[in-house]
Amino acid sequence: MNMKTILEPLNQIPAHLQTIHDYEIEAEKHLSDMVWSYLQGGSMDEISVQDNVDQFNDIQLLPRMLKDLTHGHTECEILGQKYPHPIFLAPIGHQQQFHPEAEAASALAAEVLGSNIVLSTFTNTDMRSLKKENPYKWFQLYWQGEREKSLALVKMAEEHHYKAIVITVDSPHTGIRDRERKAFFHLPEGMQHPHTPTHVPLPELKDGDHPVFNGLMKIAPTWDDIAWIVQQTNLPVILKGITHPQDALLAIKHGVQGLIISNHGGRVLDTCISPILALQMIKKVVPTDFPLLYDGGIRRGSDVFKAIALGASAVFIGRPYIYGLATAGALGVAHVLKILKEEFEITMALMGTATVNEINKEYIFQY
Ligand code: GLV
Repeated sequence: MNMKTILEPLNQIPAHLQTIHDYEIEAEKHLSDMVWSYLQGGSMDEISVQDNVDQFNDIQLLPRMLKDLTHGHTECEILGQKYPHPIFLAPIGHQQQFHPEAEAASALAAEVLGSNIVLSTFTNTDMRSLKKENPYKWFQLYWQGEREKSLALVKMAEEHHYKAIVITVDSPHTGIRDRERKAFFHLPEGMQHPHTPTHVPLPELKDGDHPVFNGLMKIAPTWDDIAWIVQQTNLPVILKGITHPQDALLAIKHGVQGLIISNHGGRVLDTCISPILALQMIKKVVPTDFPLLYDGGIRRGSDVFKAIALGASAVFIGRPYIYGLATAGALGVAHVLKILKEEFEITMALMGTATVNEINKEYIFQY
């Protein structure tokens, strides 16, 4: 059998790594085929995985010239917190698969680059170990089946200075991931998750019970649970994975303070609406100052610009920073962030926009 040689993570960045795409090619060399299938793959035919990236090619920029941009910067403000730039790290679990330093490496890079990190419930790194004084950190909650168990994680995040709770709502059931199944994907034996078992214990099925609707769906959260959590914490609650305008309005009604518009990187429901389209629909119905964050398919600084122009306050990257992590740990994540930030700054300059607030849909060609 032809065994793949898996390269060790690099400890310096070679000149051939200039773009996110270069990192994608490099990262594959540092991961087993099984882990690569998990990272790259998505649900069913992976149409959404590809669409999330492709959708940006059909959006054309409409730049303005000859403006004075000498006061320009990339700062932005979300829920009263100022951030040096609007490129954030999405919650991704089990990061030890990609690099031995796992989320600790991602968090370090985020801190150095002033990026807001959202630590996953399924982190291998204890949430208590992230730097206390760093204000750029949120905690992502996967519903733990029961209110009290879910709240215990929220309270721990509060105590450890996380600034917001992100509840992922788009995956009450795991997606159908053909590529993972073909690669016999499994997490390494004995992998530690300090805050939770990997799987919330499933309810026992009785005779006649349905494996899906009386299984995972029985322990999935509902709007009442969201409203309850909102009442129990002083932290803002943000929902990740909302794509329907009616759900955006329900979220506001239930006390949610921000949304991450996302189709989970195409990993859950294939052919789910592109997040860039969902963003535009939702933007039309929510109050102008309601924070909408964007997640899905960002590979260039110009994509960051487009998402902001179409209504986002900030964007998340997922796979791109994991490419950096697999390639060169914290150094790789930091470089990925730096690449995107520099591309974004130069795009802003070429577009004639001095601040993130100035970026709007007037800078996008509308048919
Ligand atoms: C988990 O959220 C995954 O997408 O694998």
